[in-house]
Amino acid sequence: PTYGKEDVKEVLYNAEQLKEKAKELARKISDDYKGKDLILIGILKGSVMFMTDLIREISIPCHIDFMDVSSYGNSSETSGVVRILKDLDFEIKGKDVLIVEDIIDTGVTLKYLMKYLSSRNPNSLEIVCMLNKAERRRVDIGVKYIGYEVPDYFLVGYGMDYAENYRQFPYVGILKEEIYKK
Ligand code: PRP
Ligand code: MN
Ligand code: MG
Repeated sequence: PTYGKEDVKEVLYNAEQLKEKAKELARKISDDYKGKDLILIGILKGSVMFMTDLIREISIPCHIDFMDVSSYGNSSETSGVVRILKDLDFEIKGKDVLIVEDIIDTGVTLKYLMKYLSSRNPNSLEIVCMLNKAERRRVDIGVKYIGYEVPDYFLVGYGMDYAENYRQFPYVGILKEEIYKK
């Protein structure tokens, strides 16, 4: 691998399509959460690009916070075990919480997080994701806002990695198979 764009087989969504989708989702969120105490929680590290695109287009007051959890490590398959590496800085009791994710795959990470965060009694708790890989779902979770439905390819860029590489690409690309298969 070169860790450059040569490792990408095909661009699935370009930067413009992602920005446009983030804008559309931000508009809906701004409508739905008018008058509420909105806090967006980004799940590190994959969500960083989506988070910054989203909040720039949200037109109502909101706060942001981040959590870091570990389930995949450096492997391409989820381990099913979720560890909390960084918890929230702020209390969410009574607040309207929106979890921000780049992609939902098996749903294991979010299933765990929803349970964990709901025990702190937020007023509401919902999820927004840019990409949804529905065919890979292993556990049931309700996702309020979805950007794009995606097929089961190994995707990188727009915050998403393979072994911590490729996160910086402004587009979502399909990683060449030879990079992750030996
Ligand atoms: C990826 C992605 C989601 C999670 C989805 O994160 O950003 O957070 O996996 O997978 P799941 O639905 O099967 O639980 P990852 O754990 O790779 O960490 P990262 O965001 O730091 O890359
Ligand atoms: Mn992630
Ligand atoms: Mg990852």
